[in-house]
Amino acid sequence: MAKRKSKTRSTSSRGKAARGRSRKAMPAKSQDAIALLKADHRQVEGWFEEFDSSRSDSRKQDLAAKICAALKAHTTIEEEIFYPAFLEATGEEDIHHQAEVEHDGARKLIAEIEKAGPDDDYFDARMSVLSEMIKHHVREEEGRDGMFAKARAADMDLQALGQQLATRKAEVMGEAGEDGEEESARSRRPAADSGERGVLARALRRVRGE
Ligand SMILES: [Fe+2]
Ligand SMILES: [Fe+2]
Repeated sequence: MAKRKSKTRSTSSRGKAARGRSRKAMPAKSQDAIALLKADHRQVEGWFEEFDSSRSDSRKQDLAAKICAALKAHTTIEEEIFYPAFLEATGEEDIHHQAEVEHDGARKLIAEIEKAGPDDDYFDARMSVLSEMIKHHVREEEGRDGMFAKARAADMDLQALGQQLATRKAEVMGEAGEDGEEESARSRRPAADSGERGVLARALRRVRGE
């Protein structure tokens, strides 16, 4: 019995290490577009929950950096790939335009969070408002008559779009300089800030056809 327990523990700890490695190495290319975007939503929600319950300033700083980087990559790939495909397939301008306006609002708040940093008096308030904005936006995308439901009902190649999203996401995260898991917000902010702004600016120019 004792032997079996010890074996289980050792296998489980090896498995945990292996899962950690594979999660970082694999861009989940087999996911369809909606599964990929929903997985992004769940990841950020988890980090927001952790942020809310954290009492450590450095942990909160690290989580804020991860959340901001993930949201920027997510909104970029949605705006470059998924949203245009959705609009073309469904003609649902109201849903599409509202989603883009919500992205713009989140992006402004993210820029303020990154610029001011965790020592700013408004850091927690901004993170809290960002969390509420994202919750609302995710409900709009995942709700019963929301964008994703309409996309599933429309004639869209969600598998091919999923591959495009995964490829572009890996590019964007790479250009932004890692996914924020290893470095603290303080140590990465200066380089990531300019790099991510560059990516975002390019993405916006592409979306706007400039
Ligand atoms: Fe989304
Ligand atoms: Fe979105």
